[in-house]
Amino acid sequence: MSRLEIDELERKWLSVSLAMIGLFVGAIVVTAVSQGVHPPSHVETIDSASLHLSQEFAEDKLGVQPTPLADGSLQVRLVAGRYGFYPREIEVPAGRRIVFRMASMDVLHGAHIPMTNMSTMIVPGYVSEVVSVFPKPGEYPMLCNEYCGLGHDHMWSKVTVIA
Ligand code: CUA
Repeated sequence: MSRLEIDELERKWLSVSLAMIGLFVGAIVVTAVSQGVHPPSHVETIDSASLHLSQEFAEDKLGVQPTPLADGSLQVRLVAGRYGFYPREIEVPAGRRIVFRMASMDVLHGAHIPMTNMSTMIVPGYVSEVVSVFPKPGEYPMLCNEYCGLGHDHMWSKVTVIA
C-alpha cells in the first residue's frame, strides 16, 4: 500500500461525513431561499441624528397610525430617547395585531411591556420591529430595560389597551 492510498473504510467514512456536511449546508440554503429567512445581521438602518427629518419617525408621524396595514394590523411608531418613549401615551385596541416600530434618537434603550411578548432592544441606527397582541384591556407600562443613563429608572410610557 503506497502512502497516498486511503484505506477503504476511511474512504467510506470520509464520503459519509462530506455528504452530511453537504446536507447541512443544503438545508440552510434551502430554508434561507424558500422561507425568506435571513440572518439577524440583516436589519433596517436609520440615521438616529436626523430622525425628526425622516419619513417615518418625524414628530407628526409618531404614535398609532390611522391607516391599518394590509393585513389589518395597526402600526405604532415610537421614538426612544433620554428619558422617555415618544409619544408618552398610546392607546391600542385589544385583540388586534400591533406592529411596533421603534428607533432611538440617542443611545441604546430597550422597550418592554411586562407580562407580554413586547420586549426588544432599541439600538441607535436601527429600526426595531416587534409584533404583539394584547388580549386584555387595561393600562400597561412600557419600560426601558437597557441602562441608558441617570434617568433610566424613570423612562417609561403608558400603553392603554381598550376593549
Ligand atoms: Cu432608556 Cu434605559
